Amino acid sequence: MQNDTSFRKEQLKARLFDDITKHIETIGYVPDDIDSLIGSTNLDVKPWRHRDLHQHEGNKANEGIITRDKDTLAASVNRLYDKAFFDPTGMLLRLVGDSDFRNLGYWTAETTSIHQAGEQLQDVLLARIPVKTGRILDVACGMGASTRRLLAHYPADQVWAINISEKQIESTREKAPGCHAQVMNAVDLRFEDNFFSAILCIEAACHFETRRDFFAEAYRVLQQGGHLVLSDVLFTSAHRHTQFPPFSSAINHVESVEAYAEQLREAGFHHVDVQDASDQIWRPHFLYIVNLAHQHFYDGRMSAVELTDVLWHYYSQNAVTGPCILASAQK
Ligand SMILES: C[S@@+](CC[C@H](N)C(=O)[O-])C[C@H]1O[C@@H](n2cnc3c(N)ncnc32)[C@H](O)[C@@H]1O
Repeated sequence: MQNDTSFRKEQLKARLFDDITKHIETIGYVPDDIDSLIGSTNLDVKPWRHRDLHQHEGNKANEGIITRDKDTLAASVNRLYDKAFFDPTGMLLRLVGDSDFRNLGYWTAETTSIHQAGEQLQDVLLARIPVKTGRILDVACGMGASTRRLLAHYPADQVWAINISEKQIESTREKAPGCHAQVMNAVDLRFEDNFFSAILCIEAACHFETRRDFFAEAYRVLQQGGHLVLSDVLFTSAHRHTQFPPFSSAINHVESVEAYAEQLREAGFHHVDVQDASDQIWRPHFLYIVNLAHQHFYDGRMSAVELTDVLWHYYSQNAVTGPCILASAQK
């Protein structure tokens, strides 16, 4: 009997270690201050993802600020998103279901799904464009959900969409036929000056290196009187940027909502309005996902290790996530 129990314990241990080893590789983010989060681990090496970041570095600027060249950053962003966005067995798609929005969404007391939250986030931004005529650009269009939704307001031939990912652009072409979808970096817009009457950018500028470059480009390609509307996520500290390779470097850190508005004004924009909507964006999204993951666990659709993985990911993301903002500005 004793032997039988020992054998089963060994089996269980092997099974748990196997699972943990497999899933630990999918955890997106390991903070440097892991000790203070989980108790001392006596880690004497940096987490592998941090080392990985340094192996891919480009030029190292002064004052310890690390920047990467655009292609290195784009490749890093694409590795993360193309895998997460298209893998039907991956954790993201298991949680967001059939929604093709890839953002945190905008939540009210009545919101019941990620897809609805995605639609609402786009709608609160579009409400900041008073007259919906002329050409519009969907920057960092993701899978094409927002581009498709623009067709309720704009004829297809007036809608442009860009992304750094070829795969996401292919998806956008399918979802929003007739629109102009192109692979392009948001900080290098290949459009003439004064080309668009509006620009929409949902939850992506935190990746751009830098936001300032994007704001300058957005200003250039907008017509006089044109509107830039965007949602964005700030980090809790400059240091956090350097810990997570797919995000741009500390150079892109913005201290506050006021500092964000100031960057827009410095780019030349007026009628700048920046709101902290964290209570409608990150916090309800976080609670929704944590709840859903537990439901999956109780329904037998998610193992204990997978649930731990999701919770780890979301709790550590919570330590990184600062104000979630809604912004609009006019040229
Ligand atoms: C969180 S997703 C948001 C996607 C989409 N806007 C949505 O709401 O469903 C961030 C997106 O930014 C894109 N992205 C990141 N850096 C970019 C850049 N420099 N230029 C264009 N797109 C970029 C990614 O490929 C990804 O699609």
